[in-house]
Amino acid sequence: MSSKVERKKRVFSGVQPTGQIHIGNYVGAISLWVENQDLYDNIFCIVDLHSLTIPENVSPEYLRKKVREVAALYLACGIDPEKSTIFVQSHVPEHAELTWLLNCVTPMGWLERMTQYKTKAADMETVGTGLFDYPVLMAADILLYDTDLVPVGDDQKQHIEITRDIAQRFNHLYGEVFKIPDGLFRESGARIMGLDNPEMKMSKSLGEVKKRHSIGILDSADDIRDTIMRATTDSNMETRFEYASPGVKNLLVLYQVMTNSSKEEVEDHFRGKNYGALKKELVEVVIERLRPIQEKYKEIVEEEGYLDNILNRGKERAKEIAAVTLQRAKEHMGLI
Ligand code: AMP
Ligand code: TRP
Repeated sequence: MSSKVERKKRVFSGVQPTGQIHIGNYVGAISLWVENQDLYDNIFCIVDLHSLTIPENVSPEYLRKKVREVAALYLACGIDPEKSTIFVQSHVPEHAELTWLLNCVTPMGWLERMTQYKTKAADMETVGTGLFDYPVLMAADILLYDTDLVPVGDDQKQHIEITRDIAQRFNHLYGEVFKIPDGLFRESGARIMGLDNPEMKMSKSLGEVKKRHSIGILDSADDIRDTIMRATTDSNMETRFEYASPGVKNLLVLYQVMTNSSKEEVEDHFRGKNYGALKKELVEVVIERLRPIQEKYKEIVEEEGYLDNILNRGKERAKEIAAVTLQRAKEHMGLI
């Protein structure tokens, strides 16, 4: 019998400190991290270097504020600093350094195919090199920690795929350096749609400027009520997931995740009821679910030094792991 204790699988994920953190981020990513927190060795990052890829959105004051906001939201949502490492990407320079090494094995054609890049670049007059290189920085984030699983929303699927491709290509060229990670997605809730327009993914940048598009994690009860009660539905009365229109399905999915129910339970519950009932109940469920998060958030930001302490500890632990992987990559490439 082997006495070796199995190492817990490692989880790594992150959120960009820009825009309005919304229930899409919560449902698709952060709540999934919290649910699985005891199963894994978790590392959660605030990816500030990624935010710089759209520079016109980010002033120094704004970025400083948002980094702390996202860190406090992680904690308020239930990430426990005793169980998980929380740190800021730019505090660990190994991320930028590994990005360069990975750049040198990543064909431009792979990056040109990224749909998120194409969508973002389409609206810009001049496209920064950083935006183009965004997926390589994300690959560096993940690969530095010998990550097994990356829990994210399904808009990140292509970025996980390219991370795997980059790692495999590197390993093929230089030897076994990187672990090949897998994505971890919710079966239901990996893509929450805009409440004003269910054809469109709920977006952090839109949420900041457009009323009733999204529900911010820190939104007031009145705003939550207003946004849900006016959410786009249709003139049918269809509350089965499979047959519902996109707007109604989005509300059903939100209800399902917010109440930790199965699809069947949600369908049974709303059978024969109209959309008004669905919306009213969803309002209550969302307000009740977010209330303790908002209270905890307030406590965290009011406690002087608490957040800095956690981010400092996180940085130390992250650095320890990242430095070893970076060194291994450099040695395999012949850098001395
Ligand atoms: P971002 O807002 O791009 O920093 O994303 C942070 C995390 O939230 C990532 O894991 C995304 O995949 C996830 N996410 C963002 N928008 C949504 C959405 N509308 N529905 C579900 N997950 C989302
Ligand atoms: N690109 C991700 C997003 O926009 C954020 C991100 C950066 C990330 N690095 C990561 C997510 C590493 C998971 C793992 O949502």
